[in-house]
Amino acid sequence: MFEHLDALPPDPILGLIAAYAADPNPKKIDLGIGVYRDEFGATPMLDCVVEAEKILLDTQTTKTYLGPPGVAGFNQAITELILGKDSNALRQGRVRTVQTPGGTGALRVAADLIKVAKPESELWASDPTWANHLALFPGAGVSMHSYPYFDAESSSLRFDDMVDALQQRGPGDVVLFHACCHNPCGISPNPEQWQIIADIACVQGFTPMVDMAYMGLERGVEEDCLALRLFSEQCPELIFASSCSKNFAMYRERVGAITIVAQDEEKAAAVESVIHNVTRKNYSMPPAHGPAVVDIILHSDDLRAQWISELGVMRDRINGLRKELSEKIAASGIQRDFSFIARQSGMFSFMGLTVEQVHRLRDEFAIYTVNSSRVNVASFNDNNMDYFIEALARVLDE
Ligand code: LMR
Repeated sequence: MFEHLDALPPDPILGLIAAYAADPNPKKIDLGIGVYRDEFGATPMLDCVVEAEKILLDTQTTKTYLGPPGVAGFNQAITELILGKDSNALRQGRVRTVQTPGGTGALRVAADLIKVAKPESELWASDPTWANHLALFPGAGVSMHSYPYFDAESSSLRFDDMVDALQQRGPGDVVLFHACCHNPCGISPNPEQWQIIADIACVQGFTPMVDMAYMGLERGVEEDCLALRLFSEQCPELIFASSCSKNFAMYRERVGAITIVAQDEEKAAAVESVIHNVTRKNYSMPPAHGPAVVDIILHSDDLRAQWISELGVMRDRINGLRKELSEKIAASGIQRDFSFIARQSGMFSFMGLTVEQVHRLRDEFAIYTVNSSRVNVASFNDNNMDYFIEALARVLDE
């Protein structure tokens, strides 16, 4: 049965975890996977999570099955968090949220839902987009194309080209957006641009799908939900995939959700039943621990306030590192302009290096980035930033 299988190359992002771990160089830096790190290079648990886990341990009485929707309190809290309690779609009963194993699980469920709802749909994603989008959707049988997004020359958004491309889309197309902290290029549309995009979605009639893996890490929880709130006020149908991996630092617990908005309450119930059906045929039902913890945090005034504050610390640190890195590169004598790092947001920026330069960073300096030269800015600290800049100068020959 397995005789025709050959070993596949490692995943472009996850493969770096093992390569980095095996590297004995004491100066090694992991700028690969999108994980927040503090000034000591650690990825600590949030205090609010530790507290909520204690409460959960003291209060839980059973581990029996929850059923396909998962933790009901989590689903309700996430829906209100992303759409806002005053959402019209919510009041009209047109919204349903189903807990999933991580944000990636939500994307896969979304792909399965699209295949059931309209198998001939085409999915359009930004160029570039998260590497796993490119594997996940075609892997689920959804055909995928790209729309212009990032201008490598100026490290900025190709907004006019993006608008032109979106105006070609229509019913039957699903257009994928990153809510904030664009992965991999760190550039988001501004609020006025989001409004223009939402207007186009409304006129053209395509279905927006919003991936929000980094909510709260660009400008703040409310601000980072702007795009999907605009879409939800204007569009009849939507798909959202949300994740608590980064903003609750619960990566390995796999906490995520798919949220859909349908044209009316009856259709929303129908879509929810299809989601339950596709998950039942896949993993049956989602895991409970992580979402139960988030449920406790979001339903406690104190823990919720603590979460907002701890999220703010992560966001401020990343923004501070962006400024520091771009200033230090400018002061280092490197001629190339890296000031865009300070203007971008979230964990990632492209350094604009060739694959050969990326490999030199890895082989000569034990600095690990994805081949596209996407770096995780959150991995820098006082002990490694200067070393990185020296290595950068060397591979740029400056
Ligand atoms: C990343 O892009 O590094 C993260 O989203 C983690 C992952 O699963 O790829």
